[in-house]
Amino acid sequence: MTALGIHDLSVATTHHVLELDDLAARNGVDPQKYRMGLGQAQMSVPAPDEDVVTMGAAAALPIIERHGTDRIRTLLFATETGVDNSKAAGVFVHSLLGLPAAVRTVELKQACYSGTAALQTALGIVARNPSEQVLVITADIARYELDSAAEPTQGAAAVAMLVSADPALLALETASGVHTADIDDFWRPLDSTTAVVDGALSTRAYMDAVLGAWDDYRAHGGAEFADIDHFVYHQPFTKMARKAHARLAQHNGAESVPEAFESTFTYNIQLGNSYTASMYAGLAALLDSDDDLTGKRIGLLSYGSGSVGEVLSGIVQPGYREHVRAEQTRAALENRQRIALEDYRALHAAVDGSSTDQEFPQVTAAPFRLAGIRGHARHYESTRSA
Ligand code: CAA
Repeated sequence: MTALGIHDLSVATTHHVLELDDLAARNGVDPQKYRMGLGQAQMSVPAPDEDVVTMGAAAALPIIERHGTDRIRTLLFATETGVDNSKAAGVFVHSLLGLPAAVRTVELKQACYSGTAALQTALGIVARNPSEQVLVITADIARYELDSAAEPTQGAAAVAMLVSADPALLALETASGVHTADIDDFWRPLDSTTAVVDGALSTRAYMDAVLGAWDDYRAHGGAEFADIDHFVYHQPFTKMARKAHARLAQHNGAESVPEAFESTFTYNIQLGNSYTASMYAGLAALLDSDDDLTGKRIGLLSYGSGSVGEVLSGIVQPGYREHVRAEQTRAALENRQRIALEDYRALHAAVDGSSTDQEFPQVTAAPFRLAGIRGHARHYESTRSA
């Protein structure tokens, strides 16, 4: 059977970065609470002319430049931070990237989980016609109320993936485990730009979904715990993944070994939560790490509040190191501009979710920007020829 999976993977983030030590100082909190207690050091903060479309397009651009558009007939955009209640964010990306008209484009939503639904959908499309490739984009801006307990767990990023036959990075195995439970742990009402969250319930719901999906994965022929070399968890904050791994290890009567998951934290410690993109940023960090992972089995543990969880696994492909984008991701993180606490608060307060006509100042150095809202419609532009 032809192997199917992730052929290319590319990370993008925002123009600004907030140091969580600055937030701790304002909140009168010991900085170690955020660094050690949550496992986070920074969070990405979008400029006024950035959103999930600009980040998603920026993440996908290097993939298009490397592979062209000839085989892409589907674009799946997974996000919690959609920019319109009707039009898919991917349609804007399709235009910015100059993709051919013969592409089906759609948006998927289920909190932080929908990127994994997009990946599974993409695998189905490629299985039906292995000559086709699917562009999957995961992009989110995690926003909670200012001065709330959840504020240090904000962040933003996009991860774009090219799904194809004979993948260069990760061949996904057929077994998967799924879990759905109707829980009010985290959600975002249609009239709100920030999520409503019951923090304690959300961490319990996350654990329940991971264990439920794991048991289903095993019941459907998934690998044994001991046969998975590295575990990549959804990382709302990296401590959550640490706890989830300890719980899953205990569930399997095994020891929790830090080497099995810690190298997936490198990017998310700096990005903060990026909802749909978070687990895939963890995967990028693992593939970019110094270890040679050729032939290793990776477990992916996806969670989206509300709630849906999924466990799947894949085998790292020979020669994958020639295809990773470690330098690009490190540059995206390093090139962010540090934002002062008061400027971050002003930007946060300015996001009202309205479609009132306005023009946005050019701040971002990214290849695409949100130029303005005119007649209630969002207008994006490339900055590359400007
Ligand atoms: N030094 C070191 N550690 C410290 C410390 C200090 N000085 N002070 C406190 N801590 C530790 C605490 O002991 C605690 O650690 P443990 O959990 O290991 O006990 C940790 O810091 C957090 O402190 P609190 O328990 O006091 O928690 P909090 O009130 O600050 O809130 C939170 C934490 C619930 C995660 C909150 O930030 C939140 O609601 N975040 C958003 C919800 C979320 O991310 N949930 C995750 C699961 S849901 C999901 O995954 C979907 C999604 O993406 C949102």
